[in-house]
Amino acid sequence: MSDLFDFKPKPKNFAVMGNPVDHSKSPTIHSFFAQQCGVDLEYGRIQVDVGGFEQAVSHFQAHDGAGLNITVPFKVEAWQLCQKTNNQLSKRAQLAQSVNTLKFERDGSIFGDNTDGFGMIHDIQHNIGCILRNQKVLIVGAGGAVRGVLGPLIECQPQSVTIANRTPSKAHELAEQFANPLILATGLEKTDPEGYDLIVNGSSASLHNALPGIDVSCIRSSTLVYDMMYASQPTLFMKWALSHGAAGVFDGLGMLVEQAAESFFIWHNKRPDSCSVIEALKKL
Ligand code: ATR
Repeated sequence: MSDLFDFKPKPKNFAVMGNPVDHSKSPTIHSFFAQQCGVDLEYGRIQVDVGGFEQAVSHFQAHDGAGLNITVPFKVEAWQLCQKTNNQLSKRAQLAQSVNTLKFERDGSIFGDNTDGFGMIHDIQHNIGCILRNQKVLIVGAGGAVRGVLGPLIECQPQSVTIANRTPSKAHELAEQFANPLILATGLEKTDPEGYDLIVNGSSASLHNALPGIDVSCIRSSTLVYDMMYASQPTLFMKWALSHGAAGVFDGLGMLVEQAAESFFIWHNKRPDSCSVIEALKKL
């Protein structure tokens, strides 16, 4: 049949935008989800130079783009873009002051959301089985990654969330901004020697194959340890925690897949089965 009579709708266009993006697993994850849910889509990688973010987004939108995932270093710029007139931001993205999901609406406006916190909490509670209510949590780092998960973490009603950071003033600033009595702040060496139920590494130390420098007394025999980073091998932080008696250690692969599942839901209104995708990625 001639193309003239081929009315099959074109697949919708999605991509991950950041710098670098060449190792991003997002295209693989979204194509697994698309197969599962019977959605026809194209999902690419767009590397953008610093300074060129807004232009790149406009270009993608103008060329039939339906949605973008935003990664390092553009999540704050994406949040700023969504604050402009006519655009919209979810509550959780407002709180996180960063956006990892853009949806291009038919009227030309942009909706921005942040699914990172949801992804981490869903992974910890549903996949790992650690219910956060009444848990004593230590979170290491006070940058964008930690800001992004604090809101959803607090919604789980933990006993407390202590932010420990190399530069203590940044931990205090972040705690003050959230102004929640459950959130405490301290320096890396001043954590509670009685330990924590859950320790989350949200610092970028693992990216540099370094340890963030918290004291071993944070770890009890029942402590679970979660590194937001993932790699093919356990991170240095995970190895360190295991060697000091942690009950279990987990990397950020589950968080990556769960945040993607939530983006997929925002775009397609369908919820994929993320557990099978986490298992499939481990085998690649
Ligand atoms: P992101 O947006 O990924 O969170 P960021 O805003 O640069 O990145 O924040 C990185 C976080 O990791 C910071 O909390 C940083 O501590 P400082 O505020 O003192 O800079 C923390 N960090 C980075 N490298 C670290 C290291 N080697 N040891 C401990 N903390 C580290």
